[in-house]
Amino acid sequence: RSTLQQVAARKGSTFHFGSTYDTYDSDASFLSSVFSTYFNHVVAENGCKWDATEPTRGTSDLTECQAVQSFATKNGATFRGHNTFWHSQTPSWLPGSITASDLVNNVIPQHVQQEIQGMGTSVTSWDVVNEIVGDGVSNGMSALQCVQNKKVWPTQTSDGSSTTLVTDLSFVHAAFTTALKYAGNDTRLAINDYNTGGSDAKTACVLAVLADINANAGIPYNRLAVGFQSHISTSSFISKSALSATFAKLAALGATAMITELDIQLPSGTSAYERYQAAIWGDYLDACLYASNCNEFINWDARDDLSWLGTSAAGTLFDSSGNPKPAAYEVAARLQRY
Ligand code: G3I
Repeated sequence: RSTLQQVAARKGSTFHFGSTYDTYDSDASFLSSVFSTYFNHVVAENGCKWDATEPTRGTSDLTECQAVQSFATKNGATFRGHNTFWHSQTPSWLPGSITASDLVNNVIPQHVQQEIQGMGTSVTSWDVVNEIVGDGVSNGMSALQCVQNKKVWPTQTSDGSSTTLVTDLSFVHAAFTTALKYAGNDTRLAINDYNTGGSDAKTACVLAVLADINANAGIPYNRLAVGFQSHISTSSFISKSALSATFAKLAALGATAMITELDIQLPSGTSAYERYQAAIWGDYLDACLYASNCNEFINWDARDDLSWLGTSAAGTLFDSSGNPKPAAYEVAARLQRY
């Protein structure tokens, strides 16, 4: 923690370095100890998602989300919100038989308002929309083409199982204009996605959607952020220089970059790759540390056996016995060196 305070003094702002927590995570004592000593930032792994926070239409249930925020406060940590819109983990009543205009004019504004207003203005950032850009995109696509390429509701093209609900980006604009209205003045509003960060077409699409949100929802760039989830492996990751170049593009716009869900899967869970994993972790951290516009860095799940990847992926900073791995030591060293 003291290292993070020294980083903040040199960076000129708090460096929010954290991980996920859900109240039903096993081993609360490990999590309390590691969050009070090693991390200073918390995100709910599942507790703030639509299925948890609006179980029936119009009813707000922030119990789980607020419990994670309380855990953060109890451990002297800050809290970020994930997420107010995603095609996955939606409540059973979605998408149901709602119409596009009902989704855009009522369902989304109401959900975003109730969650962001309910969680308060101290939230450092919200993933306002999560994973709305397709995986089959190509350079030069428009923001709308990028999103329609996703092939999940509400903009999926007819793929035999269902048809397009919304044929424009109004659902994105509704989410962001509502978020801007109810979030704290210092809260960054993020578009969050995976397999991004380099000079790839998906990153170009994320930047195109960001520009659309700025231009057509009127959200100022100094409130906008891009969350690079960074679920990577020792054989598939973005170089520090490519990440830094992407962060610089956002800085030039006045927008924020953040690493939101880092885990680094090992090919077969062998320790032989742990030093490689450590080097990559350090490079992702440096790309954010040395960027003027990156102050949130989240590691997805703190311990291998708690990881959504499963224990054998060995993709987190601490092993299943709670011991720091080489990556944890590398991260500490990079923070101290900053
Ligand atoms: O809460 C229920 C529990 O009541 C039930 O008994 C149990 C068994 O069915 O399931 C529990 O829900 C699970 C939930 O995690 C909470 O543990 C869901 O089945 C399971 O699908 C869900 O997985 C989460 C996944 O998102 C869902 O898509 C992972 O924990 C979570 O790490 C993962 O996180 C996502 C980010 O939100 C977005 N980016 C990708 C990342 C990895 O998929």
